[in-house]
Amino acid sequence: MKIIGINGSPRANGNTKSALDAMGKIFAEESIDFEVLHIGHQLSPCSGCFRCAKTHTCTLPDDGLNRFYEQLIQADGLVFGSPVYFASITSGMRCFMDRIGCIDMNNGRQFRFKVGVPVVVARRAGAVNAMDELIHYLNYAQMLIPGSVYWPLAFGNRPGEVWQDEEGIQTLEVLARNMAYVMKVMDAGKAQHPVPELPRKYYTNFIR
Ligand SMILES: Cc1cc2nc3c(=O)[nH]c(=O)nc-3n(C[C@H](O)[C@H](O)[C@H](O)COP(=O)(O)O)c2cc1C
Repeated sequence: MKIIGINGSPRANGNTKSALDAMGKIFAEESIDFEVLHIGHQLSPCSGCFRCAKTHTCTLPDDGLNRFYEQLIQADGLVFGSPVYFASITSGMRCFMDRIGCIDMNNGRQFRFKVGVPVVVARRAGAVNAMDELIHYLNYAQMLIPGSVYWPLAFGNRPGEVWQDEEGIQTLEVLARNMAYVMKVMDAGKAQHPVPELPRKYYTNFIR
């Protein structure tokens, strides 16, 4: 089993990475492989061209997005991590989710029934809003979203400060443990319970 943690911060080694590392310790105890993908700040926004409906890949100039998507669909679990920027997720994370989301809704919904969780770090405010933004995507993608002893937030400003947030780190550790549990239960049951068929989706665009 494998989990990928997405670091949505432009800083490769900031608090988001520390939050993912805190979860990584638990995944190691649970014998689950864990890798952090640093998506950086080079991703372009989705152009809304919908060419991915035909190609099942993003046709924008190559900035690594298609490779990230390929890596993600191989994983059993995903952690979507972002710092709070102006009470929201980072623009990099927004670009990432819009583009993998657009490919995936046209590519047989590969994220269905993966276990996915949001993780947010902040200096002071806006964390719940950013967490909601991540959950909107996880839920749309039909991932299973375990919870923890608190919402999955940790506080810190300068790189590494989240390690001082005892409650935040505990929340992330419990989240990681719960994630591992759900993944193992899913894995044990999948032979007996095939994934439900994917229906053809109706699009009712409120146009009369
Ligand atoms: C452009 C920008 C906007 C930010 N906006 C907020 C904010 O609205 N609320 C907040 O609590 N922290 C805000 N922060 C602080 C970061 O969320 C905080 O420093 C976080 O730990 C950074 O995570 P990182 O080290 O993984 O990049 C902002 C930081 C930047 C650079």
